[in-house]
Amino acid sequence: VRTQVAIVGAGPAGLLLSHLLDEAGIDSVVVDQRTRDEIETTIRAGILEQGTVEVLDRLGEHSRARTVGNRHDGIELRFEGAGHRIDFPSLTGRSVWLYPQHEVLKDLIAARLAAGQDLRFGVSVDGVDGVDSDHPVVHARTADGEALEITADFVVGADGSRSVVRAAVTGSSTGGYFREYPFAWFGILTEAPPSAEELIYSNSPDGFALISQRSATVQRMYFQCDPDADPNALSEEAVWENLQRRVPGTTLKEGPIFQRDVLRFRSFVAYELRRGRAAIVGDAAHTVPPTGAKGMNLAVADVVLLNQALQALILRDDAHLIDAFAETASRRIWKAQHFSWWMTSMLHTTDEATPFDRRRQVGELRSVVESEAGMTYLAEAYTGWPLASMD
Ligand code: DHB
Repeated sequence: VRTQVAIVGAGPAGLLLSHLLDEAGIDSVVVDQRTRDEIETTIRAGILEQGTVEVLDRLGEHSRARTVGNRHDGIELRFEGAGHRIDFPSLTGRSVWLYPQHEVLKDLIAARLAAGQDLRFGVSVDGVDGVDSDHPVVHARTADGEALEITADFVVGADGSRSVVRAAVTGSSTGGYFREYPFAWFGILTEAPPSAEELIYSNSPDGFALISQRSATVQRMYFQCDPDADPNALSEEAVWENLQRRVPGTTLKEGPIFQRDVLRFRSFVAYELRRGRAAIVGDAAHTVPPTGAKGMNLAVADVVLLNQALQALILRDDAHLIDAFAETASRRIWKAQHFSWWMTSMLHTTDEATPFDRRRQVGELRSVVESEAGMTYLAEAYTGWPLASMD
């Protein structure tokens, strides 16, 4: 197969990039190892920055972020049993949308298929060759085991945290800056009415909890747990007890729990984001811990930049944007790394924390919620820093 841009990974980054390239008249082939059903049903995060929603508006009627999703104008930070609301519009003029990632993926897949995109599921990539030449090649196999070779002008690895393309860009599948955290989130989906209208990020002596929503009848909640916790080891009663203990001041509305998972925390940025005619974006390039919901939004920001760089390279033979891509993308990536780390460390507890650390953490939370500057800092990061212009 011959195409202009070979995109490995049909997650938010890969699918959105194929859409933006197509708008500019650049053709691409998108492959993913997973089935369409797997992609459309895997539960991920739920918060879209305003800029992400504005990019998704380019899908036209296919984007349901504004119609099915809900605008959220604030979050609550809770500590020492009291809630403190951070009002986004008054601080930044911006909002976020609660709209689950798998719904974004359904919209993107529908839009791409309607546009005639060459999009292939069940294709596993073995490796990428020739990134230092003008025509890199993706070596892959279809679900039936047939060899598939994609020759392109450029290869994009949007293939997630276990990226295969990463090795062709960084020289190693693991090389990068990273840190781990001594905790994880126990996440549930429950059939219950909302316990709060907006998200509650709660710091308590027993650990962190996040009360999020999905719809009028389905809620998403998380509580801090051990990274080795077995999601099936707790009774429903024990799950509710753990959640409730971490949000003193609110009585949670309980219902049947129909999905549970343990999310491990990691911060990671690959040493290189681009080499020759290949680049990595989204989770292939970086991972953030979930506190603050930056993961998918950061992938979208990478893609907005890379789209411009690829248009210049492919349509105008102008390499200056692709040569600047890694440096430009890194600035936002490291701001998002910092924000995600900061929200995580400000809100979670650890066994090593001393009584001093515990009081200092409450002092830090007060410094945010009792200061317009503090709240504005959080709100700017949460609703998203400006994206590169799309036109
Ligand atoms: C959700 C996940 C997050 O990591 C977050 O910060 C906010 C919301 C969610 O799944 O709803």
